[in-house]
Amino acid sequence: MTYQQIKAEVKENIFYITINREQKLNALNKEVLTELATAIAFAAENDEVRGVLLTGAGEKAFVAGADISEFQNYNLAEGKELARSGHINVFDAIENCPKPVVAAINGFALGGGLELAMACHIRIASENAKLGLPEVTLGLIPGYGGTQRLAQLVGKGRAIEMITTADMITAEKAYRIGLVNEVVPQAELIAKAEEILAKIKQRAPLAIASAIKAVNSGLKVGVNGFEVEIEEFANCFQTEDFKEGVNAFLEKRKATFKGK
Ligand code: COA
Repeated sequence: MTYQQIKAEVKENIFYITINREQKLNALNKEVLTELATAIAFAAENDEVRGVLLTGAGEKAFVAGADISEFQNYNLAEGKELARSGHINVFDAIENCPKPVVAAINGFALGGGLELAMACHIRIASENAKLGLPEVTLGLIPGYGGTQRLAQLVGKGRAIEMITTADMITAEKAYRIGLVNEVVPQAELIAKAEEILAKIKQRAPLAIASAIKAVNSGLKVGVNGFEVEIEEFANCFQTEDFKEGVNAFLEKRKATFKGK
């Protein structure tokens, strides 16, 4: 698959995705979203991929939001379709991806950009990053899951404050309130994300997929996360990786997992 708006390549079992519209601060236009959907589907299905590193081109922005120029004349039906297709094809697809997706937030993460980072499983920010949901300055609200995922990550009070004031927060504040996992100097950002993914890719892939599914289940309305955990825990016993992990421990050697 060749991409025009993103760069995507697998290196040593990590799928690197870089949104590549630096001149427009990597704003999410239709093409970017379509290519992201394709890339995430590839990551989910490809056995070689053990984790995903998602970032934006340049040193100024991760993603400065949905491309405002594209929806300026939208009506109710078009607005609904924009949000719904984005949710299904990109944002939910990332959240439900069986391979951990790490967002390396290298600058502005605003609107759809912060929503994209929040759909990822892990967020690492550079010290210069600025995060916010400024949609109400445009007469909109977040439409790619921001009202839900921000409240899940930082609590209802802080989420409503960030959304209704439209204020951007620093990386340091984002760390303090639990919106990002770590803050590092810009020059160390990718290395920090790679360090996390290097650990993940040594672990049992099917167990990781089960863990993501179980954690996500607890946040879904009408789904009993504890029941999903029981099912997924039990499923692990049927895998070759479980046998390999336990044998390796008992034989005092390092396990080699196959994702089977
Ligand atoms: N949609 C479309 N284009 C965008 C964009 C967006 N969300 N964010 C930035 N751009 C474009 C700008 O229009 C500009 O294009 P141009 O050079 O052709 O004029 C280019 O990216 C650079 O942005 P600029 O605004 O000149 O940079 P800045 O350093 O002055 O400001 C921001 C940076 C992030 C503060 C500012 O770009 C901004 O507020 N962007 C919109 C953020 C937003 O509201 N996102 C939510 C959308 S729902």
